[in-house]
Amino acid sequence: MASTSTTERGSWNSKLGFVLAAAGSAVGLGNIWAFPTKVATEGGAAYIIVYLICTFLIGFPVMVAELAIGRKSGKNPVGAFKALSSNKFFPLVGLWGIICGIMILSFYTVIAGWAFGYAFEEIFFFLNWETAANWLTDTEDGFRNAIIASVFMLGTIKIITAGISGGIEKATKFMMPLLIGIIVIMIAYVLTQPGASEGVREYLLPDFSRINAKLIFSAMGQAFFSLSLGMGALITYGSYLNKKENIPQAAAFVTLADVGIAILAGLLIIPSMYVAKEAGIDIFVGEELASSTNLVFQILPALFHSIGGATGLLLGVVFFLLLSIAALTSTISLLEVPVSFVIDEYKIQRKKAAWGVGLGVLVISIIVSFNTSLIGTFDSIFNNLGLPIGGLLTCVFVAFVWKTDSALTEMEFGFAGIRQTLFSKVWPIFIYVICPIAILYNIVSNFL
Ligand code: TRP
Repeated sequence: MASTSTTERGSWNSKLGFVLAAAGSAVGLGNIWAFPTKVATEGGAAYIIVYLICTFLIGFPVMVAELAIGRKSGKNPVGAFKALSSNKFFPLVGLWGIICGIMILSFYTVIAGWAFGYAFEEIFFFLNWETAANWLTDTEDGFRNAIIASVFMLGTIKIITAGISGGIEKATKFMMPLLIGIIVIMIAYVLTQPGASEGVREYLLPDFSRINAKLIFSAMGQAFFSLSLGMGALITYGSYLNKKENIPQAAAFVTLADVGIAILAGLLIIPSMYVAKEAGIDIFVGEELASSTNLVFQILPALFHSIGGATGLLLGVVFFLLLSIAALTSTISLLEVPVSFVIDEYKIQRKKAAWGVGLGVLVISIIVSFNTSLIGTFDSIFNNLGLPIGGLLTCVFVAFVWKTDSALTEMEFGFAGIRQTLFSKVWPIFIYVICPIAILYNIVSNFL
C-alpha cells in the first residue's frame, strides 16, 4: 500500500538525487549570505563553534526524525502527523510548519531577487550603463524588488510543476556540484590576494567572551534555517524517499554538505572583506561592520569592481548566479511543502497546486518587496522562533506519541543492523531529552 501511494506521488530516482536535492534545500542564502554575515558580526569563530554544536547535537537528530516521519507516512507534514497518530494536536504542528514555510518563502524570494539582480548589475557596470546598474542595486526600490522576486518565483513554480524526479531532482543534480566547484575556484582566487590572510585569521580565531544567550539563540535559529528543519521540508522530502535508503546516513550527508558549504562560504566572504579593505574600501565604521545585512550585496560588488576588467566581471556574474542557483534549490523545497499539502489533502493536480500556491505566496512577496522592513519581522517570528518550536514539537511527537522505537523500525529499512549500533541507543536520548530541553532552554533564556 505504502509503495503504490509513493509512486503516485512521485519519488526520487536515485539516492544521489535525493541527497543532492535535500542538500540543495539546505544550501542557500542561509549558508552564503546569512552565515558569513553572522560570523562577521556576532563573534567570529566563537559563533562558528556554537553553530556547529547546534547543528550536530540538535539539528542532525531532528533531521533524522523528520525523514523517518516522512518516509513512514509518505505524506506532507499535516497528513504525516495525521497518519501516524490519532492525536488531534500534531496535525496543527504540521500546519504551523507550512505557514512558517510560506512566510519564509515570501521574503526569501525577495533576497534571492537581490542576488539575481546583482548578476546583471555586474554586467551593466562593466558596460558603463550606470542608470541600469544603479537601478538593480537599489534594494529599497519596491517595484524593482517585486519584478525580480516574481521572476524568481515563476522559475521555482516551473521546476515544481515538473515533479519530483523530472524537476527537483534533475535541477539540483546539475546545480549542486556546479555550485561547489565555483566556490572553490573563487576561494583559491581570493586567498592569493593581498589582505586575505588577515581575513582568514579573523575567521578562525575564536573570542569566547562573546558567547551569551543571544548568540546561542541566533546560532540555533541559523542551524535550523540552514538545515531546512522545523517546518516539515524534510518530512516532505522524506516522503519521496525509497525504502532502500539509509536514513541516518542520508541525513549525515546532508548535514555535512550544509556545514561544509557554510564554512566554505565564510572562507570566501570573510577574507574577501579584508581584500576589499586592503583595496581601500571601507568595511568598518569604527569597530562595527559598515553594512551587516547587506554585507554580501555591498562589499562583494565593490570588491569585484575594484578587481575590474573581464576578471572582475566574470567573478561577479558567476558569484551572483551561483548565489541565485543556491537560493533556487532552496525556494523549490520551501514551495514543495505547501504544494504537497494541497496535492495530498485536497487531491489537486501538481500543476494546478504549484501555480495556485506559488502565485498566492507571490502576492505576499510583492507586499514584502514594497516594505522590506517586513523581512526582519518575518525572520524573527517564522524563522528564529517558528522553526525551533516546530523542531521541539517534532521531537515531542516522536518521543511521546509515535515513539522513537517506531521510528527506529522505519529506519531498519535501508539500515538492517541499526538496532545493533550505538546510534540506536543514543539517538532516542537526543529526541527524548537533549534536543527538547536544549531548544526550550535557548528560547526561554533568549527572552529573559
Ligand atoms: N536552508 C535554506 C538556506 O539555508 C533555506 C530553506 C529552504 C529553508 N527550505 C527551508 C529554511 C525550509 C527553513 C525551512 O538558505
